[in-house]
Amino acid sequence: MLSEAIKEQKKYIEKINKINKDKNLKYSILTMGCQLNENDSEKLVGMIEQMSYTKSESFNSADIYIINTCCVRENAEEKLFGKLGELKKIKENRDIIIAIGGCMMQEEHITKKMKRSYPFVDIIFGTHTLYKIPQDLYKTIKNKEKVKDVIDILGEIYEGIPVKRNDNKRASVTIMYGCDNFCSYCIVPYVRGRERSRKPEDILKEINQLAMEGYKEITLLGQNVNSYNGGENYNFATLLKQVDKIEGIEIIKFISPHPKDFTDDVINAIKQSKKVSKLIHIPLQAGSTEILKKMNRKYTKEQYLELISKIKRSIPEAVFSTDIIVGFPGETEKDFEDTLDIVKKINFEQIYMFIYSRRVGTIADKMRNQIPEEIKHKRFERLKKSYEEKVEENNKKYIGTTKKILVEGYSKNNEKMLTGRTDTNKVVIFGGNQDLIGQIINVKIISEHKWYLKGEI
Ligand code: SAH
Ligand code: SF4
Ligand code: F3S
Repeated sequence: MLSEAIKEQKKYIEKINKINKDKNLKYSILTMGCQLNENDSEKLVGMIEQMSYTKSESFNSADIYIINTCCVRENAEEKLFGKLGELKKIKENRDIIIAIGGCMMQEEHITKKMKRSYPFVDIIFGTHTLYKIPQDLYKTIKNKEKVKDVIDILGEIYEGIPVKRNDNKRASVTIMYGCDNFCSYCIVPYVRGRERSRKPEDILKEINQLAMEGYKEITLLGQNVNSYNGGENYNFATLLKQVDKIEGIEIIKFISPHPKDFTDDVINAIKQSKKVSKLIHIPLQAGSTEILKKMNRKYTKEQYLELISKIKRSIPEAVFSTDIIVGFPGETEKDFEDTLDIVKKINFEQIYMFIYSRRVGTIADKMRNQIPEEIKHKRFERLKKSYEEKVEENNKKYIGTTKKILVEGYSKNNEKMLTGRTDTNKVVIFGGNQDLIGQIINVKIISEHKWYLKGEI
């Protein structure tokens, strides 16, 4: 359903269209952060392309620059300031429009800094006002106004924003926005608002449409997908079962679930589906119960291990990936060893490893026992090493098995070979001809090479 607010924006799209028509204007967009942000950018591009902008071939030749920012860790923020330096130089020579949006713009200390040090930015918009980019842009084009459009609200849902997808076989579909968990290290609940779920019918309509357009793989997105609430008796498991029925969709993934909400009905829905990926991402964050408590994660080390065992008992082919933070305030050597212990016990297919980064406004930022940078980095290296040691061992299980693979294209490192990923996200390269690109085929794995597998059709 088209929200009233979106109908309003369509009017601005039309107005800008009239101004921009025949000018051959170009846009450039840069997205930082998670897949939710990527999906938001697909909506930004959807709107921008309806306003007579086309994608610029190079970063230097656009008329409008959009950056969709992330503030989950400090290095994400530094990236923005680097880019702004580049844009300043471009703007000194040409009349360009610069619009900066996303999570970082929801932080007051950042927008203050922007005003002070980067006054040449034309539009600042937040996560709650992304849908209003046509209106904000209109003000800038028409009156040369500097626009700051950031609001701090619990959050709304807007259906009907045009989307321009990055890919034509795989698509991301956001099923819920915001987060209510307030893990003590995390900024996301402050910049994305409270948890709110899209209506099941809106989600299913979108996926049906994607299936009709030839999409084969769907990733359901949310900060905590398994707390999805689609109404009475309609939870995440119900949604998974419904998506499973959509003809044409062959692979279903979801990120991220929270261990505390991983109920038996979700496990059953995964088990009963031939389409739901058996690579399940379950963020651990830390192995020590003590640290998990300070992180406000609401599970213990034992409960996490038990959850993994339970899934394994029910779905023997299940494999796992995870997120881990090292160097949370107060993390002792013994706490860190609990993390290593879990990595040893569970054969994670993939671990996304992060060094704890202080975020202004979070509970953990105010904790007094912050870990020195040097120790954080040393622990990070140790964690990386213990994970890498397991990768080869893990890969050996694949040799001799046959895997279903969506062929992505030619391999970057070996142009004669095709490449794709297993449902467990392992890169596989194999010989074959061009017609196979975009299809799902069976490939037998013949050897392992640490960061990829070799196979034959
Ligand atoms: N909602 C998802 C993803 C949150 S952000 C989840 O709960 O899993 C992605 C990852 O970034 C988190 O899982 C966490 O591992 C990491 N992260 C979040 N805040 C961080 C911080 N302050 N420092 C370092 N890593 C952080
Ligand atoms: Fe952040 Fe925790 Fe919410 Fe994930 S669940 S977004 S880590 S607060
Ligand atoms: Fe970053 Fe915002 Fe995602 S802070 S990780 S882009 S929700």
